[in-house]
Amino acid sequence: MSSILLVTSSPRGDESLSSKVAIDLANTLSAKGNGTSVIHRDLGANPIPHLDTVTTSAIRKPAEARNAEEAAAAEYSDKLVDELMAADTVVIATGLINFNIYSTLKSWIDNVARAGLTFRYTENGPIGLASGKKVYVVLSSGGVYSEGPAVGMNHAVPYLKTVLGFMGMTDIEVIYVEGVAFGPEAAQKAIAAAQARSEELALAA
Ligand SMILES: Cc1cc2nc3c(=O)[nH]c(=O)nc-3n(C[C@H](O)[C@H](O)[C@H](O)COP(=O)(O)O)c2cc1C
Repeated sequence: MSSILLVTSSPRGDESLSSKVAIDLANTLSAKGNGTSVIHRDLGANPIPHLDTVTTSAIRKPAEARNAEEAAAAEYSDKLVDELMAADTVVIATGLINFNIYSTLKSWIDNVARAGLTFRYTENGPIGLASGKKVYVVLSSGGVYSEGPAVGMNHAVPYLKTVLGFMGMTDIEVIYVEGVAFGPEAAQKAIAAAQARSEELALAA
């Protein structure tokens, strides 16, 4: 059965706009696929620790060379990789935080971008192993970055496209929930526009 991996990263719980739009999208996609299962990795509620000495060492050596502490760290990272590899569809939600993604999401990426598992090096350069997935990125931001003078200050979308593409995920749609700092009315409009875009994309899926 097909499955959806929903990765939300805001620490703001029910107040999070990126999570709200992404959860709705995942549910709509799931309903459309007759109950396709949704695995929700809520990084805001359960943050992934930043890379440390043990994890960086563990994920770069073969299983048989790891000590007990490294084995536990690698197992955790492996589980995140397995969740990603098992998904046909990935929905990722983040706010624009100081022009980039929530650091919780960065930690998730640092755990799933694994040589030999989600990408590998060849004589002709790196190739992504997590291909064939449809990815939706929901980005919420105080300002407007999809068009206009601030486009170049949005480092979240180019970064995500680069790192996801490196792992083989190149079919990426971005849903903006933007201009939410311009007052409650603007925020409502931004949510409505993002939901309309989500519906459109879900219909086309
Ligand atoms: C620490 C912090 C940094 C932020 N940096 C930016 C930023 O660089 N640009 C921007 O437009 N909005 C910025 N914002 C506003 C958030 O992008 C906005 O509140 C968004 O809705 C957060 O996502 P969430 O609702 O899913 O938590 C920032 C908010 C916080 C709390």
